[in-house]
Amino acid sequence: MMATQDELKQQVGYKAVDDYVKSGMVVGLGTGSTAAFAVERLGQLLKDGTLKDIIAIPTSIRTKEQAEGLGIPLTTLDSHPNIDVAIDGADTVDNATLALVKGGGGALLREKIVEVQAKEFIVIVDESKMADGVGPHFDLPVEIIQFCHEHIRREVENLPSLKGCKAVLRMSGDKPYVTDNANYIVDCKFDTPIKDPVQAGAELLNVVGVVEHGLFLGMTTACIIAGKDGISVKTP
Ligand code: A5P
Repeated sequence: MMATQDELKQQVGYKAVDDYVKSGMVVGLGTGSTAAFAVERLGQLLKDGTLKDIIAIPTSIRTKEQAEGLGIPLTTLDSHPNIDVAIDGADTVDNATLALVKGGGGALLREKIVEVQAKEFIVIVDESKMADGVGPHFDLPVEIIQFCHEHIRREVENLPSLKGCKAVLRMSGDKPYVTDNANYIVDCKFDTPIKDPVQAGAELLNVVGVVEHGLFLGMTTACIIAGKDGISVKTP
């Protein structure tokens, strides 16, 4: 019988912890339905004594709550800035470069600040997330401040390297979605791949009021992919 998407997510979540986490490490914990399986596995291996002396840094309030529930010792970047390994899912992974789009779950800012600090950043996905180029397959999330958000949204939409994109304020019911950092998110819709993601990232960060964007470029150490033909690992 073919594995369900949840089973594929579980396979990569468990494999990432089994293969990359060693006792004594500082571990960055990602956010989302795939990363939740890695957190679950870390909790299991700590409980049964396979892993010892792990301390972890969560990338969202919901991951923090899950890790606390599993008894995983937690810390912050302030006291542990040297992260050995971080494990997280992604919304899309570019086949050629392993560039990521992240932030579908709204946690992109905490994910990036933690994952950019990790010696190894392990991305875990089912094969539906693999794509050619970044942009058209999943709307690019951009975290912005609440103040003057409509002005910031327009500024984002008008950036030269994002030409043709439509930036839409993310909603939660009839109110704007609010991140763990009390910011808003605009999701940028593209019809074609972003021509120059590095330039797009730089232009986005240059807009006053943009806090961070969901392009994770040059960060991936390895990408574990689960599909109908089994698990494969890609490196840049
Ligand atoms: C959270 O903000 C995101 O970056 C997630 O890592 C991404 O959306 C993947 O989530 P799933 O594993 O639930 O698809």
